[in-house]
Amino acid sequence: MPKNALSATGISVDFFGLRALSDVSLALSHGEILGLIGPNGSGKTTLINVLTGQVKPISGKVLCNGAEITGLSPRKIAKHGIARSFQVVRLFRGLTVAENIEAAALAKGCSRRTAWHRTEQLLSEFDLEEQQDQLAAALSYGDERRVEIARALAGKPGFLLLDEPAAGMNDAEGDALLRILARLPGERELGMLIIDHDMSLIMRLCHRLHVLASGKTIGEGGVDEVRRLPRVIEAYLGAEGQEEAGNAAGG
Ligand SMILES: Nc1ncnc2c1ncn2[C@@H]1O[C@H](COP(=O)(O)OP(=O)(O)O)[C@@H](O)[C@H]1O
Ligand SMILES: [Mg+2]
Repeated sequence: MPKNALSATGISVDFFGLRALSDVSLALSHGEILGLIGPNGSGKTTLINVLTGQVKPISGKVLCNGAEITGLSPRKIAKHGIARSFQVVRLFRGLTVAENIEAAALAKGCSRRTAWHRTEQLLSEFDLEEQQDQLAAALSYGDERRVEIARALAGKPGFLLLDEPAAGMNDAEGDALLRILARLPGERELGMLIIDHDMSLIMRLCHRLHVLASGKTIGEGGVDEVRRLPRVIEAYLGAEGQEEAGNAAGG
């Protein structure tokens, strides 16, 4: 395993007797974007929750840059440089956009000067300069999501885990987000894992895919390789995926 990697090995999770994940393993390195896909209820959010400490697995190991972090609290895991976004946006609604990002940097122990410097950089990178003095409560949905990701980056994480960041966005907002996300891992020491239902976004953004169905891994590897796996097409991509895979093979 590369030194700068977040890895999960043999992860199983039970919720009151229901097996949500069965023996799932994945690894994420700096510089790469890994797509985690699968039908609703297949265990994608649960896997992020295991990586960030919100859910404790009944078996398996999580390593971050060689250190074992299995079962640690979310606070301790965050200190290892793992940041996430949630399926439902969580911002300080009474603070401005800039204050939300700055507060996240300060919470990571930055000086005021460093926190503000990072905030300015992130406002620019996420195209939020015009909205920086707006209250979070007044933001459009697409802007809220961008602020949430900027906040997650304010602590300079080594790994960023995004749970459906483009959900509820229109096509223009989704494309704008994709352009920002695509640049992140190359510009900093960062590995990114992304869950999203928008297959077009996932296929354009990700370097590799990991596919879950009913809590089990049914495919992993390069995007073009995985989208052609019969098991994946059958379980998940359906007729649409088959058509896309066919087109890609034909073209
Ligand atoms: N906190 C929880 N308590 C009980 N069951 C849960 C909990 N979180 C998830 N589940 C169940 O685990 C399975 C996987 O859920 P989830 O990881 O949210 O799937 P996905 O994100 O792929 O849609 C589902 O059957 C879901 O109902
Ligand atoms: Mg989910």
